[in-house]
Amino acid sequence: MDPKKPSEKNIAIIVDQVNKQFGKPSETTWWKNLLTNFNHKTKNGAANGNGAQNGNGAKNGADKSTANKLTKKKTVTAVDNVSFDIKAGEIFGVLGPNGSGKSTLIRILATLLLPDTGELTILGHDVVKNPMQVQEVINRVSVEASFFKKLSPMENLIYGARLYGIGGKSTQKKIEEILIRLGLEKRSIYSPMEEMSRGMQQKVAIARALLTRPKILLLDEPTTGLDPRSKREVQAVIREMNEEDGTTILLTTHDMQEADNLCNRVAIMDKGQVVAMDTPEQLKTLVPQTNGHAPSLEDVFMELTGRKLKEEHE
Ligand SMILES: Nc1ncnc2c1ncn2[C@@H]1O[C@H](COP(=O)(O)OP(=O)(O)OP(=O)(O)O)[C@@H](O)[C@H]1O
Ligand SMILES: [Mg+2]
Repeated sequence: MDPKKPSEKNIAIIVDQVNKQFGKPSETTWWKNLLTNFNHKTKNGAANGNGAQNGNGAKNGADKSTANKLTKKKTVTAVDNVSFDIKAGEIFGVLGPNGSGKSTLIRILATLLLPDTGELTILGHDVVKNPMQVQEVINRVSVEASFFKKLSPMENLIYGARLYGIGGKSTQKKIEEILIRLGLEKRSIYSPMEEMSRGMQQKVAIARALLTRPKILLLDEPTTGLDPRSKREVQAVIREMNEEDGTTILLTTHDMQEADNLCNRVAIMDKGQVVAMDTPEQLKTLVPQTNGHAPSLEDVFMELTGRKLKEEHE
């Protein structure tokens, strides 16, 4: 028996010394080389009906400099030796500046990316070795959620539910309930997704995740782009899921107030590393009071992730 198991009883997610780099030589993948060779061959413009343009805009075929740009990418350490445990039933927030590694970490946990090193388990399932078991217990909402844009929210959600083996008339009723609860008008539920604003589409993405009642919910900026009322509606649903279903939630956000209100504990990341981790209340004790005002989580964020402008340009 695994000696680690007894102490893992109330732990839902374990992230242990995880590292992830992008742009390593091994990631200069075969398809990029293929693309480079192809572009060389079509140097004088492959004016065929398929429009031989590459994704980098080299309309008439890439020259050597494009080839270099494609193959000599700078290595980025997106996640740098990150470790933390999330307790079952906890709402755990990950905060950090743009590019600090939050989404990369979520994508690794969601089995969409492989870590370079380190171990991750979700409800005892190894994320790398048993991705299928992990996928059964998680659901992820990201800012760039994808849908069949010509179909309505209802059709997209019915499709999503079927993938999880959920169907029948009651599902349709439930979908309607969730969408209305999230503030969507009834007529939007049956109109094509492409006619909806980004915020409304974000709500549909959240509804899709809630529908399957996952044990673990990975929310990557779930309220980004929502108006204040919609934000509150979504936050209320997140809290409800946690309190009523005991769903364990990992959440990233740039809204410090949201993290303060929702999260039991928060990890602050900077340049791929966790620079602080505690309850919002404890984190606030890390910075001094200013002008007699108690520090906010935003003050803590600024203090811990602060770097001089000069440093940023180096
Ligand atoms: N697929 C990728 N290929 C190359 N580099 C990547 C890739 N995905 C992320 N990165 C890089 O990894 C770093 C971390 O990115 P990540 O998206 O995890 O940050 P983030 O904390 O989620 O940022 P944001 O707050 O803007 O969403 C960044 O430097 C980013 O450019
Ligand atoms: Mg992100």
